[in-house]
Amino acid sequence: MSLPEKVSVTAVIDNYLDVFEPSTSLVERAVPGKLKGFLLAGHGLAYLVDITKGESTFTLLMDAGNAFEPLKNNLQALGRTPAEVDALFLSHGHPDHYGGLLGFLEWRGSPLPIYCHPDVFWPKYLMTPRGKVGPWKLDRGKVEETGAELICAADVKQLTEGVFLTGEIPRRTTFEGPMPGAKIVKDGQDMDDPLVDEQALVINLGEKGLVVISGCSHPGIVNTIHYAQEITGNSLIYAVIGGLHLAQVSDEVVSQTIDGIKNSGAQLALTGHCTGFRPNTRLSQELGSTFAVSCVGSIANLAA
Ligand SMILES: [Fe+2]
Ligand SMILES: [Fe+2]
Repeated sequence: MSLPEKVSVTAVIDNYLDVFEPSTSLVERAVPGKLKGFLLAGHGLAYLVDITKGESTFTLLMDAGNAFEPLKNNLQALGRTPAEVDALFLSHGHPDHYGGLLGFLEWRGSPLPIYCHPDVFWPKYLMTPRGKVGPWKLDRGKVEETGAELICAADVKQLTEGVFLTGEIPRRTTFEGPMPGAKIVKDGQDMDDPLVDEQALVINLGEKGLVVISGCSHPGIVNTIHYAQEITGNSLIYAVIGGLHLAQVSDEVVSQTIDGIKNSGAQLALTGHCTGFRPNTRLSQELGSTFAVSCVGSIANLAA
Protein backbone atom coordinates (compact mmCIF):
# COMPACT_ATOMS: atom_id res chain seq x y z
CA MET A 1 0.00 0.00 0.00
CA SER A 2 1.18 3.51 -0.75
CA LEU A 3 -0.13 7.01 -1.31
CA PRO A 4 -1.15 8.07 -4.84
CA GLU A 5 1.56 9.68 -6.93
CA LYS A 6 -0.64 11.53 -9.37
CA VAL A 7 -4.21 12.78 -9.66
CA SER A 8 -5.87 14.21 -12.76
CA VAL A 9 -9.28 15.83 -12.43
CA THR A 10 -11.16 16.38 -15.71
CA ALA A 11 -14.24 18.60 -15.66
CA VAL A 12 -16.69 16.63 -17.82
CA ILE A 13 -19.67 18.79 -16.87
CA ASP A 14 -19.52 22.28 -15.41
CA ASN A 15 -21.57 25.45 -15.77
CA TYR A 16 -18.73 27.24 -17.54
CA LEU A 17 -17.03 26.85 -20.86
CA ASP A 18 -14.47 29.35 -22.07
CA VAL A 19 -11.94 28.19 -24.66
CA PHE A 20 -9.83 31.32 -24.15
CA GLU A 21 -8.88 30.56 -20.54
CA PRO A 22 -5.12 29.97 -20.56
CA SER A 23 -3.46 26.77 -19.39
CA THR A 24 -1.22 27.00 -16.32
CA SER A 25 1.37 24.68 -14.80
CA LEU A 26 -1.43 22.84 -12.96
CA VAL A 27 -4.47 23.28 -15.22
CA GLU A 28 -4.53 22.11 -18.83
CA ARG A 29 -7.29 23.67 -20.94
CA ALA A 30 -9.18 21.91 -23.70
CA VAL A 31 -8.24 23.01 -27.21
CA PRO A 32 -11.37 22.72 -29.40
CA GLY A 33 -9.50 21.80 -32.58
CA LYS A 34 -7.85 18.86 -30.85
CA LEU A 35 -11.06 17.36 -29.44
CA LYS A 36 -13.13 14.56 -30.93
CA GLY A 37 -16.25 16.76 -30.87
CA PHE A 38 -17.68 19.93 -29.34
CA LEU A 39 -18.11 20.43 -25.62
CA LEU A 40 -21.37 21.39 -23.91
CA ALA A 41 -21.61 23.42 -20.70
CA GLY A 42 -24.44 22.38 -18.42
CA HIS A 43 -25.77 23.25 -15.01
CA GLY A 44 -24.18 20.72 -12.71
CA LEU A 45 -20.98 18.89 -12.12
CA ALA A 46 -19.21 15.74 -13.23
CA TYR A 47 -15.50 15.14 -12.70
CA LEU A 48 -13.48 12.23 -13.99
CA VAL A 49 -10.77 11.65 -11.39
CA ASP A 50 -7.81 9.49 -12.42
CA ILE A 51 -5.75 8.39 -9.42
CA THR A 52 -2.40 6.80 -10.21
CA LYS A 53 -0.27 4.55 -8.00
CA GLY A 54 2.72 3.04 -9.78
CA GLU A 55 1.53 1.34 -12.96
CA SER A 56 -2.16 1.30 -12.04
CA THR A 57 -4.77 4.02 -12.43
CA PHE A 58 -8.12 4.00 -10.65
CA THR A 59 -10.78 6.12 -12.36
CA LEU A 60 -13.63 7.53 -10.34
CA LEU A 61 -16.54 9.42 -11.87
CA MET A 62 -17.59 12.00 -9.29
CA ASP A 63 -21.19 13.02 -10.03
CA ALA A 64 -23.01 12.80 -13.34
CA GLY A 65 -24.16 16.34 -14.10
CA ASN A 66 -27.75 17.42 -14.61
CA ALA A 67 -28.49 15.25 -17.63
CA PHE A 68 -27.08 12.34 -19.60
CA GLU A 69 -26.77 14.23 -22.91
CA PRO A 70 -23.91 16.58 -21.91
CA LEU A 71 -22.21 13.78 -19.95
CA LYS A 72 -22.13 11.42 -22.94
CA ASN A 73 -21.33 14.20 -25.41
CA ASN A 74 -18.43 15.56 -23.37
CA LEU A 75 -16.90 12.19 -22.48
CA GLN A 76 -16.86 11.36 -26.21
CA ALA A 77 -15.47 14.78 -27.15
CA LEU A 78 -12.69 14.31 -24.59
CA GLY A 79 -11.90 10.84 -25.94
CA ARG A 80 -12.96 9.05 -22.78
CA THR A 81 -15.19 5.96 -22.50
CA PRO A 82 -17.62 4.71 -19.84
CA ALA A 83 -15.69 1.43 -19.68
CA GLU A 84 -12.72 3.31 -18.18
CA VAL A 85 -14.72 4.18 -15.07
CA ASP A 86 -13.96 1.88 -12.11
CA ALA A 87 -16.42 3.37 -9.61
CA LEU A 88 -18.84 6.24 -9.20
CA PHE A 89 -19.10 8.68 -6.30
CA LEU A 90 -22.22 10.78 -5.79
CA SER A 91 -21.30 13.91 -3.79
CA HIS A 92 -24.90 14.56 -2.65
CA GLY A 93 -28.53 14.10 -3.61
CA HIS A 94 -29.18 17.11 -5.81
CA PRO A 95 -30.31 16.55 -9.41
CA ASP A 96 -27.58 18.69 -10.98
CA HIS A 97 -25.19 16.00 -9.68
CA TYR A 98 -27.15 12.79 -10.36
CA GLY A 99 -29.24 13.79 -13.42
CA GLY A 100 -27.04 11.85 -15.85
CA LEU A 101 -26.54 8.84 -13.58
CA LEU A 102 -29.13 6.37 -14.87
CA GLY A 103 -28.32 7.17 -18.50
CA PHE A 104 -24.62 6.68 -17.80
CA LEU A 105 -25.19 3.31 -16.11
CA GLU A 106 -27.34 2.09 -19.02
CA TRP A 107 -24.80 3.36 -21.57
CA ARG A 108 -21.96 1.64 -19.72
CA GLY A 109 -23.92 -1.61 -19.72
CA SER A 110 -22.08 -3.33 -16.90
CA PRO A 111 -22.44 -2.94 -13.14
CA LEU A 112 -20.46 -0.37 -11.23
CA PRO A 113 -19.85 0.32 -7.53
CA ILE A 114 -21.54 3.59 -6.47
CA TYR A 115 -20.49 5.35 -3.27
CA CYS A 116 -22.95 7.75 -1.63
CA HIS A 117 -24.56 8.83 1.62
CA PRO A 118 -27.85 6.98 2.37
CA ASP A 119 -29.83 10.27 2.42
CA VAL A 120 -29.28 10.96 -1.29
CA PHE A 121 -32.42 8.94 -2.10
CA TRP A 122 -34.97 11.03 -0.14
CA PRO A 123 -37.11 13.47 -2.17
CA LYS A 124 -35.76 17.02 -2.04
CA TYR A 125 -37.02 20.42 -3.14
CA LEU A 126 -36.29 24.13 -2.78
CA MET A 127 -38.47 26.95 -1.50
CA THR A 128 -37.28 30.04 -3.35
CA PRO A 129 -38.50 33.64 -3.80
CA ARG A 130 -39.85 32.35 -7.15
CA GLY A 131 -41.80 29.56 -5.42
CA LYS A 132 -41.30 25.84 -4.94
CA VAL A 133 -38.72 24.20 -7.20
CA GLY A 134 -38.82 20.44 -7.41
CA PRO A 135 -39.36 17.93 -5.89
CA TRP A 136 -36.66 15.65 -7.24
CA LYS A 137 -35.88 12.11 -6.27
CA LEU A 138 -33.16 9.70 -7.27
CA ASP A 139 -34.93 6.36 -7.70
CA ARG A 140 -32.90 3.81 -5.75
CA GLY A 141 -34.76 0.90 -7.36
CA LYS A 142 -33.87 2.07 -10.88
CA VAL A 143 -30.22 2.47 -9.89
CA GLU A 144 -30.19 -1.06 -8.44
CA GLU A 145 -31.89 -2.46 -11.57
CA THR A 146 -28.72 -1.60 -13.51
CA GLY A 147 -26.83 -4.04 -11.28
CA ALA A 148 -24.95 -1.23 -9.58
CA GLU A 149 -23.49 -2.07 -6.20
CA LEU A 150 -24.59 0.71 -3.86
CA ILE A 151 -22.16 1.40 -1.04
CA CYS A 152 -23.97 3.86 1.22
CA ALA A 153 -22.24 5.23 4.30
CA ALA A 154 -22.50 8.32 6.49
CA ASP A 155 -18.97 8.04 7.89
CA VAL A 156 -15.54 8.60 6.42
CA LYS A 157 -14.46 5.85 4.03
CA GLN A 158 -10.98 5.11 2.73
CA LEU A 159 -11.19 3.65 -0.79
CA THR A 160 -7.48 2.87 -0.95
CA GLU A 161 -4.55 4.30 1.00
CA GLY A 162 -4.64 8.08 0.66
CA VAL A 163 -8.07 8.26 -1.05
CA PHE A 164 -10.98 9.23 1.19
CA LEU A 165 -14.69 9.99 0.98
CA THR A 166 -15.34 12.27 3.93
CA GLY A 167 -18.82 11.11 4.91
CA GLU A 168 -20.75 13.75 6.86
CA ILE A 169 -18.73 16.94 7.32
CA PRO A 170 -18.91 18.67 10.73
CA ARG A 171 -20.13 22.28 10.57
CA ARG A 172 -17.71 24.19 12.76
CA THR A 173 -17.05 27.59 11.21
CA THR A 174 -19.34 30.40 12.34
CA PHE A 175 -19.98 31.78 8.85
CA GLU A 176 -20.87 28.68 6.79
CA GLY A 177 -24.58 28.14 7.37
CA PRO A 178 -27.32 25.91 5.95
CA MET A 179 -28.69 26.46 2.46
CA PRO A 180 -31.81 28.66 2.72
CA GLY A 181 -34.97 27.02 1.40
CA ALA A 182 -33.46 23.53 1.03
CA LYS A 183 -36.06 20.90 1.98
CA ILE A 184 -36.06 17.13 2.33
CA VAL A 185 -39.00 14.73 2.70
CA LYS A 186 -38.02 11.95 5.12
CA ASP A 187 -40.56 9.21 5.86
CA GLY A 188 -43.30 11.50 4.51
CA GLN A 189 -42.26 14.45 6.71
CA ASP A 190 -41.20 17.70 5.06
CA MET A 191 -38.30 19.36 6.88
CA ASP A 192 -35.38 21.71 6.40
CA ASP A 193 -32.58 19.86 4.65
CA PRO A 194 -29.30 20.16 6.55
CA LEU A 195 -27.64 18.49 3.54
CA VAL A 196 -25.70 16.10 5.73
CA ASP A 197 -25.53 13.84 2.65
CA GLU A 198 -22.84 15.97 1.01
CA GLN A 199 -19.34 14.54 1.21
CA ALA A 200 -16.09 15.42 -0.51
CA LEU A 201 -13.35 13.38 -2.19
CA VAL A 202 -9.92 13.85 -0.61
CA ILE A 203 -6.67 12.57 -2.07
CA ASN A 204 -3.52 12.64 0.04
CA LEU A 205 -0.39 13.41 -2.01
CA GLY A 206 1.84 13.33 1.07
CA GLU A 207 4.32 16.21 1.29
CA LYS A 208 2.58 18.00 -1.60
CA GLY A 209 -0.60 18.05 0.45
CA LEU A 210 -4.25 17.19 -0.04
CA VAL A 211 -6.43 17.51 -3.12
CA VAL A 212 -9.92 18.38 -1.85
CA ILE A 213 -12.71 17.94 -4.40
CA SER A 214 -16.16 19.20 -3.41
CA GLY A 215 -19.41 18.99 -5.38
CA CYS A 216 -21.54 21.89 -4.08
CA SER A 217 -19.85 22.65 -0.71
CA HIS A 218 -23.18 22.84 1.12
CA PRO A 219 -21.30 22.05 4.39
CA GLY A 220 -18.99 24.99 3.57
CA ILE A 221 -15.67 24.66 1.75
CA VAL A 222 -13.69 25.82 4.79
CA ASN A 223 -15.38 23.19 6.98
CA THR A 224 -14.60 20.68 4.23
CA ILE A 225 -10.91 21.66 4.12
CA HIS A 226 -10.61 21.44 7.91
CA TYR A 227 -12.26 18.02 8.01
CA ALA A 228 -10.04 16.74 5.18
CA GLN A 229 -7.01 17.74 7.30
CA GLU A 230 -8.51 16.00 10.33
CA ILE A 231 -9.32 12.65 8.70
CA THR A 232 -6.02 12.38 6.83
CA GLY A 233 -3.73 13.82 9.52
CA ASN A 234 -2.13 15.93 6.78
CA SER A 235 -2.43 19.70 7.33
CA LEU A 236 -1.02 20.63 3.91
CA ILE A 237 -3.52 21.64 1.22
CA TYR A 238 -2.40 21.35 -2.39
CA ALA A 239 -5.61 22.02 -4.30
CA VAL A 240 -9.25 22.93 -3.68
CA ILE A 241 -11.52 21.98 -6.57
CA GLY A 242 -15.28 22.18 -7.11
CA GLY A 243 -18.40 24.24 -6.61
CA LEU A 244 -18.45 26.57 -3.59
CA HIS A 245 -22.13 27.63 -3.59
CA LEU A 246 -21.47 31.27 -2.73
CA ALA A 247 -23.89 33.05 -5.09
CA GLN A 248 -26.53 33.69 -2.41
CA VAL A 249 -24.33 34.53 0.58
CA SER A 250 -23.24 37.98 1.80
CA ASP A 251 -20.04 39.71 0.67
CA GLU A 252 -18.75 39.24 4.23
CA VAL A 253 -19.20 35.45 4.02
CA VAL A 254 -17.45 35.43 0.64
CA SER A 255 -14.55 37.34 2.26
CA GLN A 256 -14.34 34.86 5.15
CA THR A 257 -14.44 31.94 2.72
CA ILE A 258 -11.65 33.43 0.60
CA ASP A 259 -9.61 34.00 3.79
CA GLY A 260 -10.15 30.34 4.73
CA ILE A 261 -8.88 29.18 1.34
CA LYS A 262 -5.90 31.57 1.54
CA ASN A 263 -5.05 30.38 5.04
CA SER A 264 -5.13 26.75 3.87
CA GLY A 265 -2.08 27.52 1.71
CA ALA A 266 -3.66 25.89 -1.36
CA GLN A 267 -1.52 26.22 -4.47
CA LEU A 268 -4.61 25.87 -6.65
CA ALA A 269 -8.25 26.90 -6.21
CA LEU A 270 -10.12 25.59 -9.27
CA THR A 271 -13.72 26.61 -8.74
CA GLY A 272 -16.83 26.53 -10.88
CA HIS A 273 -20.34 25.08 -11.03
CA CYS A 274 -22.38 26.73 -8.22
CA THR A 275 -19.66 29.11 -6.99
CA GLY A 276 -21.41 32.07 -8.62
CA PHE A 277 -20.09 34.63 -11.09
CA ARG A 278 -19.40 37.41 -8.57
CA PRO A 279 -17.75 35.18 -5.95
CA ASN A 280 -15.62 33.64 -8.70
CA THR A 281 -14.48 37.10 -9.82
CA ARG A 282 -13.58 37.95 -6.22
CA LEU A 283 -11.69 34.66 -5.85
CA SER A 284 -9.84 35.51 -9.06
CA GLN A 285 -8.92 39.00 -7.82
CA GLU A 286 -7.94 37.97 -4.31
CA LEU A 287 -6.18 34.65 -4.94
CA GLY A 288 -4.30 35.80 -8.03
CA SER A 289 -2.26 33.14 -9.79
CA THR A 290 -3.43 30.32 -7.48
CA PHE A 291 -6.99 30.73 -8.85
CA ALA A 292 -8.35 29.17 -12.02
CA VAL A 293 -11.96 28.99 -13.14
CA SER A 294 -13.21 25.44 -13.70
CA CYS A 295 -14.34 25.03 -17.31
CA VAL A 296 -15.70 22.00 -19.14
CA GLY A 297 -12.73 20.08 -20.48
CA SER A 298 -10.21 21.53 -18.02
CA ILE A 299 -7.81 19.00 -16.51
CA ALA A 300 -6.05 19.66 -13.20
CA ASN A 301 -2.82 17.68 -13.13
CA LEU A 302 -1.54 17.22 -9.60
CA ALA A 303 1.49 15.13 -8.75
CA ALA A 304 3.17 14.18 -5.47
FE1 LIG B 1 -24.77 21.64 -7.42
FE1 LIG C 1 -26.30 20.96 -4.36
